[in-house]
Amino acid sequence: MAAMRYLHIFIFFFRELGASSSYSCDVKLLLEKVKLSLQSTSENLLLSSWNSSVPVCQWRGVKWVFSDGSPLHCTDLSSPQWTNFSLFNDSTLHLLSLGD
Ligand SMILES: *[C@@H]1O[C@H](CO)[C@@H](O)[C@H](O)[C@H]1NC(C)=O
Ligand SMILES: *[C@@H]1O[C@H](CO)[C@@H](O)[C@H](O)[C@H]1NC(C)=O
Ligand SMILES: *[C@@H]1O[C@H](CO)[C@@H](O)[C@H](O)[C@H]1NC(C)=O
Repeated sequence: MAAMRYLHIFIFFFRELGASSSYSCDVKLLLEKVKLSLQSTSENLLLSSWNSSVPVCQWRGVKWVFSDGSPLHCTDLSSPQWTNFSLFNDSTLHLLSLGD
């Protein structure tokens, strides 16, 4: 998990750049910026789950929170959010934390 130490720096940096698309900003920045930045590291197994064909609830090492402060519950595999693809485009969904 060595690269995780640097992720917060990446997140901070790329958040400043802003984003424009219908993807949630944080989803987009993880997909497009942070992932590319880390692809040469040993975190590939983790990063391979950060994939727009994988619901955000199943992205390894990522915890999400909504704008109103309520966490996205991803621990329960029977939760409706576990397979919710619409969360990709939910602009109220934000990155809470990275790592285990
Ligand atoms: C995302 O996952 C799909 C299906 O597992 C795979 O075919 C595709 O190559 C992956 N894309 C990236 C960018 O890893
Ligand atoms: C999210 O938005 C993108 C871009 O508009 C669109 O291509 C994609 O189908 C949308 N995904 C979902 C799950 O609504
Ligand atoms: C899936 O996510 C969308 C966007 O946040 C939400 O409106 C919808 O209620 C969710 N669906 C389920 C089944 O929880």
